[in-house]
Amino acid sequence: MVFVEARNLPSHVGIIMDGNGRWAQLRGQERVEGHREGSKAVRRIVRAARRLGLRALTLYAFSEQNWARPEDEVDTLMVLLRDFLLSERDEILDHGIRLNAVGNLGRLPGLVRGVLDPLRNDSASHHEMTLTLALSYGGREEIAAVARELATECANGRMRPEDVTAESLRGRMPSLAVGDPDLVIRTGGERRISNFLLYGLAYAELHFTDALWPDFAEADLYEAIESYQRRERRFGLVGKGAVPVSPEAPTPPAPPSEATRLRLVG
Ligand code: FPP
Repeated sequence: MVFVEARNLPSHVGIIMDGNGRWAQLRGQERVEGHREGSKAVRRIVRAARRLGLRALTLYAFSEQNWARPEDEVDTLMVLLRDFLLSERDEILDHGIRLNAVGNLGRLPGLVRGVLDPLRNDSASHHEMTLTLALSYGGREEIAAVARELATECANGRMRPEDVTAESLRGRMPSLAVGDPDLVIRTGGERRISNFLLYGLAYAELHFTDALWPDFAEADLYEAIESYQRRERRFGLVGKGAVPVSPEAPTPPAPPSEATRLRLVG
C-alpha cells in the first residue's frame, strides 16, 4: 500500500528517464522502439504529476551529450518530441500547464522548434504546473553559460565581482526558475546524475529505481514521493533537536500526522 501525503508534496520533481534502449533490447527490438514506449510513459507521468498537484516537473529528455548517438536514433527522438508536443498540446493548454524548455535550444531542429516555441508562448501565463523539458541540456553547460553572463556583466561594469554569489548564480539558472528540485528520480538502475540540474541538486533528495523508463508507472512515481516524504519527516525531527538515531537502532515510528492521506495505490 502506498500513501502520499497531500500537504508534504515535493514542489519540484526532476526525472532522469533512463532505460529505453535496454527495454527494447530485452524484447529483441530496435532501441528506438524503447524511446517510442518511453514517450507513452512521459504522457502517463505528466498526467499523474498534474493530478497529484506537483508544482513543477522537469524531464531530462535529451542531453547535450545525446547528439553523439547514431543519427537515426537522434532523428527518431526529435520526431517523438514533436509528436509528444503536438498530441499533448490540448491537454497542456486545457489543464493550465506551462510548457517550458531548458538547454541549448538553438541546436534543436526546426521540426521541434516549430511546435515547441508556440506552445511555450501559448502556455506562458499558466500556473497549475510547469512542465520543463530539458533538451540539448547539460548541467555543466548551464553553469558555464551563467558564469559567462556574469563575467560579461562584470567586465562591462554592470556588476561588481563581489556581487557574484551563490544566490546570484542560482537566480540566473533557467532550470531553477521553478525552484530547486526537491526530489530527483532516476530510472534504469544506474546510480548517477549524468549532468542533470547540477547546480540545483545541492539539497535534493535522490531516488533511484531499477524500473526501466518505459515500465515506469504512476505507482512508481507515488512510491518515489512516499520515500521522499519519509525522509523529509526524519530530517524535520533532527532539525527540531531530536537525538539522531544510530544506524543500528530500529527506525522509530513516524510521528502521528494530521495530514490528509491520499490513498493512491491499493
Ligand atoms: C535514456 O534511455 C533516454 C533518452 C536518452 C531519451 C529519453 C526520451 C524519451 C523518454 C522519449 C521522448 C521524450 C519525450 C519528452 C516525448 P537510453 O536510451 O539511454 O537507455 P539505455 O540506458 O537502456 O540504453
